[in-house]
Amino acid sequence: IKYNLKNERLRGQSMDSEIVKQQKAQVGREAVNYIHDGMVIGIGSGSTMWYLVEELGKRVKAGLNIIGVPTSNFTKKHAEKLGIPIKDIDDVDHIDLTIDGADQIDANYQGIKGGGASHLMEKIVATNSTKNMWIVDETKMVPTLNYPVPLEVIPYGSKQLEKKLKKMGLNPRLRYKDNGEFVRTDSNNYIIDLYLPHINNPTKLAEQLDTMVGIVEHGLFLDIVNTIIVQHPDGPQIIE
Ligand code: 5RP
Repeated sequence: IKYNLKNERLRGQSMDSEIVKQQKAQVGREAVNYIHDGMVIGIGSGSTMWYLVEELGKRVKAGLNIIGVPTSNFTKKHAEKLGIPIKDIDDVDHIDLTIDGADQIDANYQGIKGGGASHLMEKIVATNSTKNMWIVDETKMVPTLNYPVPLEVIPYGSKQLEKKLKKMGLNPRLRYKDNGEFVRTDSNNYIIDLYLPHINNPTKLAEQLDTMVGIVEHGLFLDIVNTIIVQHPDGPQIIE
């Protein structure tokens, strides 16, 4: 199974540089060392996680005994293809550790996720996990969040919602595929991205979004992460 960056990220962003790709691969492989026999592991989504899943598949083949709870249909298929035992979130009684990528992390370790449109399932898995780890290349670490905030929204009334968000000054844009169709999430919803120059108060923004009808979930992941592994050219940095 091949991770198709263009189809997965769906936002027409510039492709990763070779250095970033290398860092994603390194941090993905490094993080597998935190997965031990007997654990129930939330398995995140995205191109960084793709490398982790590949490495995890090798470890499982070599005898590592774990259960994986995937955060997207893509990750589920990828893990199954590699022989990683998978269970649905409602079929496990706990998740020991979820490992996932992130789009951006600020100085207070608050994050934005959902560039790959999977943040709803990712947040459900993360908030049902004892511990959460994010694995990122160094470009994801910023003083203040300024990455577009994805909202998973119900298709019904989504254009009205977009108008409302615009009036609030949140610079929304419904996410489209290259062929002009709306991006659909794994739950068949749409995505609206908020293009904000700086998010100085992510908590306030999250509170505003939490109250709006039609938004299923936003991509602000606040006070969720326990450990971050940041890959630098000279090795991984562990933040705990
Ligand atoms: C998907 C996500 C991803 O974790 C996030 O977009 C990071 O992706 P990548 O590892 O490809 O940079 O939140 O919804």
